[in-house]
Amino acid sequence: MKTTAIESDHRDQLLDRLAEARSMTDDLFRVVRTDALYNRPISERHRIVFYIGHLEAFDWNLIAGQALGLGPVREEFDRLFAFGIDPVGGGLPTDQPSDWPSLSEIEAYGIRVRQELERILTGSFQISSSSWQYSREIMLNVAIEHRLMHAETLAYMLHQLPRDQKIAPRSYRPLKPSHSPRPAFARMVDIPAGTVTLGISRGGESFGWDNEFEVHSIETPAFAIDVYKVTNGEFLKFIREGAYDDPRFWSDADWVWIKEQNICHPQFWRQRNGQWFYQAMFEELPLPLEWPVYVSHAEASAYTRFIGRSLPTEAQFNRAAYQTPEDIERAYPWGNASPDVGRGNFDFQRWDPVAVGSYPEGRSAFGVEDTLGSGWEWTSSLFEPFPGFEPFPFYHGYSANFFDGKHYVMKGASPRTGACMLRRSFRNWFQAHYPFVYASFRCVSN
Ligand SMILES: [Fe+2]
Repeated sequence: MKTTAIESDHRDQLLDRLAEARSMTDDLFRVVRTDALYNRPISERHRIVFYIGHLEAFDWNLIAGQALGLGPVREEFDRLFAFGIDPVGGGLPTDQPSDWPSLSEIEAYGIRVRQELERILTGSFQISSSSWQYSREIMLNVAIEHRLMHAETLAYMLHQLPRDQKIAPRSYRPLKPSHSPRPAFARMVDIPAGTVTLGISRGGESFGWDNEFEVHSIETPAFAIDVYKVTNGEFLKFIREGAYDDPRFWSDADWVWIKEQNICHPQFWRQRNGQWFYQAMFEELPLPLEWPVYVSHAEASAYTRFIGRSLPTEAQFNRAAYQTPEDIERAYPWGNASPDVGRGNFDFQRWDPVAVGSYPEGRSAFGVEDTLGSGWEWTSSLFEPFPGFEPFPFYHGYSANFFDGKHYVMKGASPRTGACMLRRSFRNWFQAHYPFVYASFRCVSN
């Protein structure tokens, strides 16, 4: 999947990209054994089967409903599968498998939605451009990126599903425990003071979600930033020195959370007989010390306090990743060339991280490595609207529902982030107490 939103606003390319995204999510559901589809691998989220219906209901409600004012395909399902859930510190869902329709009914609904959308978007019933209440290009980009975002968050969910309930795709190659020499960990690079641009302009070519607008500049004083993401090997020191039992390193809310939930190591780690192991997507392996550690915002923040540093702000991340010492802003850390597989561990090439420093071709002008790929990166910036923010009228809550002072911006990309979302302005966000995300971090010294 090499196409990006910038390159392809042509209609047929958008339809090709939608078809590509559909086959990506269809393949993903095939990873789950049929008898496990009504399971709930993460207690805060819906059962897996919800998402089979949701991806289709979303497309129908958006394109046919919001943009074209057409009636329902199957009203009950259009509504049942309309929205996911993201409770913050609230009650957990209590629905039972029997509360959901059968798999064959949900699949029939999905087929029907795709057939009807096909008629609308390409067939003899193609709608005239004046019938679109919102731009057709924006609608298709929203449908494509919404689906690809779910392809990623579903991977987090399926990661938590027991291995005997999953079937690795035929293309999967078992992970080989790495014996590569450890790179020079914890090396920092100085970034001089400068002006960094966040966001994109409404008049521009590129598609962006509501939270990416409007473009604006921020002055960043000089700082130093880690060349590499913090690794499992480095995080092990934090555990061995008892930091999960030392309230000095945790905010009050984070401390309450780890103690209530009995959290004493990263979600992806397992311990047996004094040995640490890593739960990868399809197998368990001895803890790969040189891989970036995946942790919640709470754990990342505690680690930075432990070593006397901080998480970068969103502006610091963009300055280190996308700017040059001459203050030129690049489209990507490596320059303006489109993303390709040699630049980073992104775009569904793998299911798990790789050792830090594996992609020198993706290095930023300041020499910072892996800013795109192998894990999103936590920032210290709360997820807030940029000046001039306006919610999408057809998807009002996409961002606005999360401007609650509890969600933090993540930048970069994980192994399961589609290439179209590698653009500089893209912002991801999660709450501080959700440990299932493919989220890494690096430290800054201010
Ligand atoms: Fe969704």
